[in-house]
Parts: sequence; C-alpha cells; structure tokens
Amino acid sequence: MYTQALDLPQQNPEGRPPSLAENPAWQAEFDAKIDAGGFIEPKDWMPEAYRKTLVRQISQHAHSEIVGMLPEGNWISRAPTLKRKAILLAKVQDEGGHGLYLYAAAETLGVSRDKLTDALLSGRAKYSSIFNYPTLSWADVGVIGWLVDGAAIMNQIPLCKCSYGPYARAMVRICKEESFHQRQGFDALLQLMQGTEAQREMVQDAVNRWWWPSIMMFGPHDSDSTHTGQNTRWGIKRISNDDLRQKFIDATVKQAEVLGVTLPDPELKWNEQRGHYDFGRIDWEEFWNVVNGHGQCNVDRLAARRKAWDDGAWVREAAMAHADKAARRAQAAA
Ligand SMILES: [Fe+2]
Ligand SMILES: [Fe+2]
Repeated sequence: MYTQALDLPQQNPEGRPPSLAENPAWQAEFDAKIDAGGFIEPKDWMPEAYRKTLVRQISQHAHSEIVGMLPEGNWISRAPTLKRKAILLAKVQDEGGHGLYLYAAAETLGVSRDKLTDALLSGRAKYSSIFNYPTLSWADVGVIGWLVDGAAIMNQIPLCKCSYGPYARAMVRICKEESFHQRQGFDALLQLMQGTEAQREMVQDAVNRWWWPSIMMFGPHDSDSTHTGQNTRWGIKRISNDDLRQKFIDATVKQAEVLGVTLPDPELKWNEQRGHYDFGRIDWEEFWNVVNGHGQCNVDRLAARRKAWDDGAWVREAAMAHADKAARRAQAAA
C-alpha cells in the first residue's frame, strides 16, 4: 500500500532528508505543495520538524489503536449473545488493523517499527488517554462505540485530507471502519434502552462515566494547545480542537435524545445566538492526570502490552528463522 511511493527519492543521496536551512529551494517547493493542498510523499524532501511531528502523531495514533483493543477485548468472552460477540470481535480486530496501517505509514518516514514499539512499551510514548478508563459493564462497550469511536471519527475525518500522503490514505479506510464501530455501539445501546429498567440504568451509568473523558479526546482548548499553529500551517491539522469538540457535542446531543439517555452536564443547552450547544467546564486536571500516567488503568494497559510482546517473541523468532531459511534456499538454488 505504501511502497510505490518509496522507490524514487527526490534527492538526498545519504538517504536522509537534509536540514531545512541547507535547502531553501526544496523548502520553497515543499511550501508551494502544501499551499496548493497537495500531498507530500515519502520520496519528497520535507523539513525535519515536519517529519518528526508526523512520526510523533502517527505513532501515537497507532499506539492508541493497539492499546484501544484492550478495554473492549476484555468483553469479547462476556458478550451477551453470539451476534454481539461476532460484532465485537470484528470491531476489535479492525482496531488492530488500524494500528498496522498506521505503523506502516510511520515507517515511510524512516523510523523502525521496533523503535516505535519500544517507545510504547518503555512508557516514553503517549497514546489516547481515553483507554486508561476501565470497562465496568457491557453497556461500556456500547458507549465506547457510540462516544469514543464517534469522537475518533470527528477527529479523524479531517486527517483524510492531511498533507502527508500515506497518513491521509490510511485514514480513508480507517474512517469507514470507525463509522461501523460507532453504529454498532449505538445499536447495542438502543437495544439495551428497549430492555429492562436495570439495563437502562446500566446504560445511563456508562454514559455518566464516559461523557467527559470523550469530550476531552479533542485535546486542550485551542488557547492552550502548543502545536496547533504550526500543524495547521503544515496541513496536518485542518480543524481546531475546540471546533471539533463543538461539532461532536452538537451531533451527539440529538443522538442522546433518540437513545433516551441524559448527558451528565447540567449546563448543556442550545444557544440560539451561537447556533451551537453550550456546555460546562471540562476538568483539565483530570485530563492531565491521566495523560501523565495516573489514570485508573495506565499501569494495567502497559503491563498487558508488555506481556503480549513477550508472549509473541516465539512468533517473531520463528518468522525470522523461516525468512532466513527461505533466503538461504533461494541463494543455494541460484
Ligand atoms: Fe480505530
Ligand atoms: Fe474504532
């Protein structure tokens, strides 16, 4: 999927993009491409800061997909029916696929998968804080689909037009699959809401716990967001955190009405003048606390990833031994 763009480097005989200051002509070409809304491809020259920003963003995104499999994976064996089990299995598998496309996109920027994995497992790399909250009931799985995947779609649709070609193309497929994730969550909740009083209470409890973390997924307010200006200039970010959050809230209030659940924010109300819903204050202290490793599940999530890595060592070793043997056979035959 990504390899066609890799075979014709624009320049850089040393195999490394030269620094920005050394190449004013290439910088001008890069800027012109961005200004025209074109894509930057792996073979193109790019400023080192642009490359680093993308490596950070795409790898954090990939880690989020992989860690994001854990809270729901926890419910595969406990799904209430075979139908729900099959849907959840497909959904969690999709998230693994998203991680794969995104790691592959990051690799086109000259960083190795091993290095990215090491950054996650050593705790140096970040991933979306939403996955550091626990899934306490079956309704949490529905609410994650509805709110968390719903917020992810809002965040990710603008990335289909991001200036880095491999990332943008990966996002097209990811967004289609996220749309299924959001709908399966909503559908599971709709069914629960038509069930018993206890089931409705379970949904409301899950909504109460996931609402605020979901709207934190759009990140700090624009006034407090350090990277927004440069990332917008580079065509990596198309819509600001606050605008995306507002779009998500406006769309979700109506869906909550259809479901018959209450969103846990007494200040949530339609503002005729703004043409948007007003909402209450976000607890940024909680947000930063979880980002900085002190959420309910940060330790468990990393421990689960480390265990999976260690348990999978024999598969990696066997694959390498097989590749080695095949190469030796091919050499002998030649
Ligand atoms: Fe995903
Ligand atoms: Fe998803």
